[in-house]
Amino acid sequence: MKILVTGGLGFIGSHTVVELQNEGYEVVIIDDCSNSSEKVLEGITTITGKTPLFEKIDLKEKSKVEDFFKRHADVQGVIHFAASKAVGESVEKPLLYYENNIGTLVYLLKELVAKNKASFIFSSSCTVYGQADEMPITESAPVKQAESPYGNTKQMGEEIIADTCKVNANLNAIALRYFNPMGAHPSVQIGELPIGVPQNLVPFITQTGAGLREQLSVFGDDYPTSDGTCVRDYIYVVDLAKAHVLALKRLLEGKNSDNYEVFNVGTGKGSTVLEVIKSFEKVSGKKLNYKIVDRRAGDITTAYADTTKANEVLGWKSQYSLDEAMKSAWNWEQKIRG
Ligand code: WQD
Repeated sequence: MKILVTGGLGFIGSHTVVELQNEGYEVVIIDDCSNSSEKVLEGITTITGKTPLFEKIDLKEKSKVEDFFKRHADVQGVIHFAASKAVGESVEKPLLYYENNIGTLVYLLKELVAKNKASFIFSSSCTVYGQADEMPITESAPVKQAESPYGNTKQMGEEIIADTCKVNANLNAIALRYFNPMGAHPSVQIGELPIGVPQNLVPFITQTGAGLREQLSVFGDDYPTSDGTCVRDYIYVVDLAKAHVLALKRLLEGKNSDNYEVFNVGTGKGSTVLEVIKSFEKVSGKKLNYKIVDRRAGDITTAYADTTKANEVLGWKSQYSLDEAMKSAWNWEQKIRG
């Protein structure tokens, strides 16, 4: 069974390729390497003993996408990670985000609806909820006005898929709304490789711990939370990867109740920024240098998942704790800093 993983050299994509190979799927990766490296193939191969097929293709090139599907007519499922994902950059360069995140999705879907049957897993995000009114957040929470073009591309992506599934019964899709992915594979062969200054909390923490960054700035401690800092649901990337395999299996085995479904993928537990810092200090034995600064524009106060649907319908539940995920992130940081 051949599965296409777009963005398969990226952080979540590479971990998902490993889990797919562990389950016996043949994997072909498309990646334009704009935010990843071909070296990740070595890491995947070291873990699983199998090198996935890889083609360096920019999905914005329609003719290249059409040619790929002609040559790989036996692809039965697609897990679509390839997208630009920096919230701040999306505000500065909206057209880059709409072209790269939406244009490419349309080209992929056009190929899939032409097949007799196709299974499609879409990388979505809890960002579609904005600041939800109730915690924990369920899949029926309203989608709110996006805070950024990046978030808008996730909302629009879901709508495009839903509309396409409505008139193409041969297309079966699941959108997975990730909360905050973190950590690295326990083998320390693959992990997060942020380019430049990390925007996300966990890589900034581990780089500060490794001495790459002078000090972590905590963006505000005057929020209405237990310790004043924002609350997020930090999900271990291997747990997240396994959710993709289960979602794909659900579609391949025809177990889905509708040909477009949505699942939250989180731990169901919220952690404040200061609690994440404490977790790092506990697992690393190091004191983290940080200071409280002003709030970051666009940040919401609290987000953590209601995971009932994923637990009961998808049969998936996160297995790893924040400390275990943080330990893997720290091990990876130490490994890549040599
Ligand atoms: C987490 C918390 C910050 C950095 C974003 C995207 C989301 C998804 C995950 C792609 C917040 C605080 C952070 C720092 C800090 N990305 N923080 N100092 O913003 O919840 O979600 O990444 O799908 O779509 O929106 O994650 O890691 O940036 O921030 O205090 O140097 O850590 O204020 O409270 P976020 P994050």
